[in-house]
Amino acid sequence: MNEHTEALSAFALDIKRGLDQFPKTLPSRYFYNEIGDELFQKIMDLDEYYLTRAEFEIFVRQKAEILKAFQGDNQKFRLVELGAGDGTKTKVLLSHFVEQQVDFTYSPIDISGNVLAQLEEALKSEIPSLHVEPIVGEYFKALSALNTDNSSKEVVLFLGSNIGNFDQASGVEFLKHIGDNLSSGDMLLIGFDLMKDPRKVLSAYNDKEGVTKAFNLNLLTRINAELGANFKIDQFDHFPTYDPLTGETKSHIVSKIKQEVFIEALGESIEFQAWEAIHTEVSQKYSYKMIESFAEEAGFRIVKNFTDSNDYFVDSLWEKM
Ligand code: TRP
Repeated sequence: MNEHTEALSAFALDIKRGLDQFPKTLPSRYFYNEIGDELFQKIMDLDEYYLTRAEFEIFVRQKAEILKAFQGDNQKFRLVELGAGDGTKTKVLLSHFVEQQVDFTYSPIDISGNVLAQLEEALKSEIPSLHVEPIVGEYFKALSALNTDNSSKEVVLFLGSNIGNFDQASGVEFLKHIGDNLSSGDMLLIGFDLMKDPRKVLSAYNDKEGVTKAFNLNLLTRINAELGANFKIDQFDHFPTYDPLTGETKSHIVSKIKQEVFIEALGESIEFQAWEAIHTEVSQKYSYKMIESFAEEAGFRIVKNFTDSNDYFVDSLWEKM
């Protein structure tokens, strides 16, 4: 088996596992192929999608306070970012820290060496005096490798409400794992999207232009292209829900009619009842209370909450106990 067919079969297996369940589900990590990445860029530019701008505003307005909190009594530190992407938001902090002549190293961690190489290249030209040490690998492996070198304080960034895409139990597990790979006094700056007007939340996942719909349905297009399926995309719709009691935002793909879809790579047909839904993504919204109990369960103490002027989003700074 070559690398390609191995990757394909993992994808095929995940799709099969999800569609064999009841209710049906599809894993959201497959949103992000080339088209998916482009559509997500467009989502971040939408009027309705407040999340990215809110966090950006927090960094622009509060970078000095954030720096102070990272430094404590003037300690040098290593800034470790989990899943850095193109670093647009992080660059606000990085440039400020460099301007202030702070003694720090920036270590973005990503499983994609390609993503990291691009980021490093961009940073070299935009912030030439920044000291970058990218780490290719899985989050926990990379963190535990860093933790053996105990020369400086670590400050971990986990931004953009990525934590909201975990269900509650695996979210706590994930944060505990991060904590296990840190020493007492190390820090974590983590983004949470806050509970707010339910209409505001819902429209962020149901924009007027239909970009989010295209993003969600692209999953079916991808299955068509890569697994030889025959989903008729216009026979499916995008339908998000928000539960103001729990803060759970869910995205669904709904079959508009009773139909059967053949997936060649699986050699089988999948049946859909009229209006049957496939669950694709959770985006949890949080209250401060939920954030507090999250921190406590994972073994951290909250140092400070940085929030935007609308109180839409919080970057919560935690210290490992
Ligand atoms: N997971 C991100 C979020 O929670 C990205 C996202 C935005 C998304 N819109 C979506 C995921 C619609 C699935 C469906 O904000």
